[in-house]
Amino acid sequence: MYNNDKLNLQSLNIPEEKREELLRIFPEVRTEGGQIDFDRLRLALGDMVDTGKERYGLNWPGKSACFKAIQTPSMGTLLPAPEESINFDTTENLIIEGDNLEALKLLQKSYIGKVKMIYIDPPYNTGNDFIYPDNFSESLQTYLEYTGQTGEEGKRFSSNTDTDGRFHSKWLNMMYPRLYLARDLLRDDGVIFISIDDNEMPSLRLLCDYVFGEENFIGSFVWRRRASSALADRLVSTDHEYVIAIQKSNFISRGIPKEFGGYSNPDNDFRGEWISGDLTVGMGKNLRPNQFYDLINPATGKSYPPNPNRVWAYIRESMDKLIAEDRVIFPDDVGRRPMLKRFRNELKSDVNPASTWLDTVGLNTESTKELQDIFGQNPFDYSKPLTLIKHLLKISADAKDIILDFFAGSGTTAHAVLDLNKQDGGNRKFILVQLPEPTDRTDYPTIADITKERVRRVIKKLNDEDGNEKNQDRGFRVFKLAESNFTPWDGSIDQSPEALSKQIEMHIEHVRQGRTDEDILYEILLKSGFPLSIPVETLQVDGKTVYSIHDGIMLVCLDRNLTMPSVQAIVDRLPERVVFLDEGFAGNDALKVNAKEACKLKNIVFKVV
Ligand SMILES: C[S@@+](CC[C@H](N)C(=O)[O-])C[C@H]1O[C@@H](n2cnc3c(N)ncnc32)[C@H](O)[C@@H]1O
Repeated sequence: MYNNDKLNLQSLNIPEEKREELLRIFPEVRTEGGQIDFDRLRLALGDMVDTGKERYGLNWPGKSACFKAIQTPSMGTLLPAPEESINFDTTENLIIEGDNLEALKLLQKSYIGKVKMIYIDPPYNTGNDFIYPDNFSESLQTYLEYTGQTGEEGKRFSSNTDTDGRFHSKWLNMMYPRLYLARDLLRDDGVIFISIDDNEMPSLRLLCDYVFGEENFIGSFVWRRRASSALADRLVSTDHEYVIAIQKSNFISRGIPKEFGGYSNPDNDFRGEWISGDLTVGMGKNLRPNQFYDLINPATGKSYPPNPNRVWAYIRESMDKLIAEDRVIFPDDVGRRPMLKRFRNELKSDVNPASTWLDTVGLNTESTKELQDIFGQNPFDYSKPLTLIKHLLKISADAKDIILDFFAGSGTTAHAVLDLNKQDGGNRKFILVQLPEPTDRTDYPTIADITKERVRRVIKKLNDEDGNEKNQDRGFRVFKLAESNFTPWDGSIDQSPEALSKQIEMHIEHVRQGRTDEDILYEILLKSGFPLSIPVETLQVDGKTVYSIHDGIMLVCLDRNLTMPSVQAIVDRLPERVVFLDEGFAGNDALKVNAKEACKLKNIVFKVV
């Protein structure tokens, strides 16, 4: 009974999820113990199983360890930092300070299949970048050492130089688990855009094929990042980067709205505004002899010879039909060409597909200026121009979508979301993740400080401009990656339920020292699968502080001196589930049993942490 009542404080169990997914598709391969019968799976797949020894694909040293990095659950939590946030109580935007691998794991339960658009701009591996070294068994420990949370001074990582024997492998080992977890967060109609340059473009394309499936590759945008450089120190001046686009499975692009500038209705046509379009196609008369003829205006009898190098777009019969429907405009001068009336109402779509050629969406010099304007200086060298990110947002994200950037840098993605919302009245939400990478600066000691400050300043500017009259979400909640609030979740301890429950019995106080009730509350939310942006109300119930989640669906009471009347008063509010702190029962098993019974009577799920 006791173990069942424990709230599962693990981040999402990825292999378990995948197994369930497989069993949903192939129920016939389920064995008695809920495992997978591989032989039956092979049978079910018939000829689709590739038994050959040699296979096409990307391989590198460390690839199998990446799987362990993906599968090892996070031992961490995200601690709220309201003092660094804006409108903490109402906003749904998030800035998470921490390593993105841990953050992506912690976000799995709450955000699986919820994100519409991901933009990332990871280190390009130019030879000077630091590439975060994951250690699958102690990944949180690595982070705690890096950030100096272990009591010692923060440990620095050196850059990945191209003389390193595992130069590309290190980068792939860093990227693979992150892309894998990011994919799970995407909605089925979601899309990920990844900025990259020539250093890792080949590896990235193959890696994405591996993670997302080759069929989900949408395109690779070529972004012009600077006007041609006269100081090219190599054989060519590389003036572009790429943004590759990959869908989860069925993304539909919003496209680029068509310009309707040239449309008018000078002849009062009942079909509305039109524009004149070409009536010829570029093909020789030998190829389409049926489309090479003199076109006669039946109203005037005037004859218009075909262009000797082209043919009409239609054969005679179709052309006659168009003329009968008054869709062909004949000029007075037979030396000029007849044209087709293209009606705006009859356009198949109001949008054009987005071009992969990006030469008008901002250069790197503009991003430098954008940071100058915000900070009066340039605290970060690698930001992208706002217009580039806005362009990607426009073609992919609707008004209420969630946007994620887990290599946030200076926070351009948040800036673009806030700007675009102001521009089109949308209500897109952002989630940023940024490592507190040291900067050697005193004003902003880490890059995460720059991220937060940029977004604060952007919000202030937008509010100063319009007083936020439309009441848009111009805030963000800051969370910081740290060890779990509960000591049994130390990585060093056996994680089996028996071992844990023993651990809990031994340590009546198992909450890590110095942690607040809010810290615990957000770990409960995260690990119960609630989004971190969920509204939380603080109530007083029979003298106890109770957190009411999402209008009372879940009630959380972290009081350390529970009594039966207080438990009953909480139960009487009829939530779907209640969570109490184990310490709240102070070892009084009878009280705990009664609390559980009271919940059972009202069909309420009872959990302790
Ligand atoms: C090229 S920058 C992104 C710039 C951003 N697009 C902008 O416009 O400002 C890459 C960022 O990823 C961050 N980063 C690298 N490894 C990370 C990790 N493991 N977790 C979170 N952030 C990381 C770096 O600190 C750096 O700020």
